[in-house]
Amino acid sequence: MSIQEMIIEKLKSNQDAWISGESLSHELGVSRTTVSNYMQQLLTDGYEIEKSTKKGYRLTELPDLLNADLIKKDLKTTTFGQQDIYYFKEIDSTNTKAKQLATDSAAEGTLVISETQTGGRGRKNRNWFSKPHKNIHLSLILRPQIAPSEAPALTLMTAVALSEAITELTDIDIKIKWPNDLLVNKLKLAGILTELSTDMDSIDYVVIGIGLNVNINHAEFPEELSQIATSILAETDEKLVRVNILQNFLRLFEKYYNIFIKDGTEKILKRWKELSNVIGRDIEIEMIDKTVKGKVIDIDEQGVLVIEDKSGQRQNIFSGDLRIL
Ligand code: BTN
Repeated sequence: MSIQEMIIEKLKSNQDAWISGESLSHELGVSRTTVSNYMQQLLTDGYEIEKSTKKGYRLTELPDLLNADLIKKDLKTTTFGQQDIYYFKEIDSTNTKAKQLATDSAAEGTLVISETQTGGRGRKNRNWFSKPHKNIHLSLILRPQIAPSEAPALTLMTAVALSEAITELTDIDIKIKWPNDLLVNKLKLAGILTELSTDMDSIDYVVIGIGLNVNINHAEFPEELSQIATSILAETDEKLVRVNILQNFLRLFEKYYNIFIKDGTEKILKRWKELSNVIGRDIEIEMIDKTVKGKVIDIDEQGVLVIEDKSGQRQNIFSGDLRIL
């Protein structure tokens, strides 16, 4: 057993009780500085350990881990999560890594996951906030044999699978905001970033990136997010085991992906409309070159938003930032 494993064993067998640094250093035959360095490493690995100069160390919570073995254990899928899983403690962006892997011919179903990201991206190159061991940051590689014009529906499909994966485990009321946000009481719970590599009429790969706020306390969000973001913990007061959500998501994602590939988008869009809050609403959409106001009439079979503007004209909106008025 390594010194780190011995320290973990000691902490676990005394969980919630204090153990002094001196007794640990004595029992393990190492200096107190070495004990302190190991404790620092355990904190980085997600162990919740309190420290007191007088009493020593106290393990209050084991880390909520998300490694490949845990993800694959009893996973009810045949493709997603069954291929290579790349797990990082820190990376710039799981989407960037997944795109590199896909370019190097990684298989459909490959999963990239990281505890934290130094350059996590959202739409329009916005930053995505990460909190190690609390949230989920992942990217999945797909190689669908569909036309590039059909790809936007993959984002809607992901939103449906993710919503259902969470609502199967909690009673949170999630609304999908077109095209890629999961909201609870207007606050953002999750975001989806879909990136693809195409040529004229086929897709080489699609990377679906998901950021989901799980066990982060509301107070832990940075100032600029505190009024606009939420987490499962903030909404339910309960911590979820992240691997359970992830496995649930992979199962539902695979279910809807198979439907999408076999039967097209009809069933998925029907479900999306049930879970979304935009149909029939007055909205404003900010696009690259203009802002349009109107009422949402529908989502077409490719996931394009159909609105009726003030002059009664129908417009198809392919992408933009939507605000419900
Ligand atoms: C958005 O809301 O605009 C989309 C946010 C997507 C964030 C996720 S976190 C995992 C993956 N890697 C990234 O760099 N971004 C996505």
